[in-house]
Formats: sequence, C-alpha cells, structure tokens
Amino acid sequence: MQKILVINSKGGCGKTTLATNLASYFSTQDLATALLDFDPQGSSIRWLNLRPQSKSAIYGVHVASRKNNTGVTRSFQMRVPPETERMIIDAPAGVTGHELKDLIRHIDTIIIPVLPSSIDIHAVTRFIEELLVMGKVRQMGINVAVVANRAKKNTLTYRSLERFLKTLKLPFITTLRDTQNYVHAAERGIGISEMWDKRTDSDKAQWRPLIRWLEDVYPVKKKRHIAQ
Ligand SMILES: Nc1ncnc2c1ncn2[C@@H]1O[C@H](COP(=O)(O)OP(=O)(O)OP(=O)(O)O)[C@@H](O)[C@H]1O
Ligand SMILES: [Mg+2]
Repeated sequence: MQKILVINSKGGCGKTTLATNLASYFSTQDLATALLDFDPQGSSIRWLNLRPQSKSAIYGVHVASRKNNTGVTRSFQMRVPPETERMIIDAPAGVTGHELKDLIRHIDTIIIPVLPSSIDIHAVTRFIEELLVMGKVRQMGINVAVVANRAKKNTLTYRSLERFLKTLKLPFITTLRDTQNYVHAAERGIGISEMWDKRTDSDKAQWRPLIRWLEDVYPVKKKRHIAQ
C-alpha cells in the first residue's frame, strides 16, 4: 500500500484539493483507494459524501478530531480495508512538532502544495525545514515533493514562487493553475481526471508529471492474469 500524505502547515494552500483529486485519480485506475481526513473540518469527507454512486469507490475515514487523537495516527493503517493499494491522507493546517512526527511515521510519500504568495513561501520554508531536519524524512526513506498550486502564470508572484521552489533541495513536480474547474469538481465529489470538458485538458496535462512521479517512487504492480 502506498501511503501519500498531503501536507503543509499553511492553511488554504490546496491540501484537500490535491488529496481528493489524487483519490479520484487512483480509484479510476482500478486501485483500491482510501482517503483519510485528518482535518476536524472534514472537507475531504464532505467531498466524498458528494461523490455519485456511479463513480469509482473510495473508502473514506474521518480520523477523529485532534483533541482526542492520542494514538490514532499510529493505528490509522488498521482503519482501512486490508486490500487498500493507495492511501491518501489529507492533513489539517498547522501540524508541527510531535504531531507532525507522529503523522509521518508510517508514510512513504509526502506532497506539499504551495501557493504563490510571499506569506506562503515564508511559511513553507519553515515547514520544509522542520520536515527535513526534525522529521528526518530523508533518513526515513520518505519521498517528498512540492507542487505549486493556484498559479497565475506570467505574474510576478508566480515567478518568485517558481524561483523559490527551484532552490529547494526537493523535487518541484508540477504547477497547477488557478481555475474554477477545481471548484466545480469539488462541488460534485469528483476529480479533474473525471471531467470530460475540453476546458480541463490543460489541467489534466498539469497533473501528469505528478502522477508519473508517484508511479516512479511506487510502481503500480501489474495485476497478474492467471490463465484458467
Ligand atoms: N488550483 C486551484 N484553482 C482554483 N481554486 C483552488 C485551487 N486549489 C484550491 N482551490 C480552492 O482554494 C480553496 C482552498 O483549497 P483547499 O481546501 O484544497 O486547501 P487546504 O489546504 O485543504 O485548506 P485547509 O488548510 O483549510 O484545509 C478551496 O476553495 C479550493 O476549492
Ligand atoms: Mg483542507
């Protein structure tokens, strides 16, 4: 089971958007997918509740509110069906210190969405430092990548975000543009990969490098076809 954590201490940077779109993508690829919402706000679970019955199934868990989650993170793997192949965790904003350490203990892959703004750049610098130094994610063999979100290309703020992300010693995988397509998908409990409108083509193209990277760090096992 690949365990992907979408996290950034900064609020509103697209954690839920990335987590729900990843869950939607994997489930459409016939991978048994679970979406764990660690945010007391429960936005991912709300998205899942909107998901039409006709769409590929995603197993959802709203992991208890943070006040009473002692030991919860340690046992989260027990909360999904044993056949789960992809587990996506939507983290709340503001996770630091012991809580962060606890959360990353059983993770293989971390994705950090970052918005183009100086406040967000400042916040993520500290967050990444904490992850790399205190969290020792590299020593733990965890793959970490950053994704620029809500980009308005050819703006100064986007260019400074791009410049900043390229200086990080972490893979900068892709840039997702700012578009209402994500808002519309969220309202319908689906992901970009499930929208057939031509206007989502460029968004799907922007997701491809992230999907490829996730497959590279955790190759999809070819299902064996046993001859009768
Ligand atoms: N690429 C995008 N284009 C347009 N809107 C976006 C995009 N990404 C996210 N949004 C919108 O921005 C808002 C915040 O996104 P989201 O809820 O995914 O962030 P979050 O990091 O999970 O926030 P929180 O810290 O509150 O959990 C939402 O209304 C979402 O629909
Ligand atoms: Mg969220």
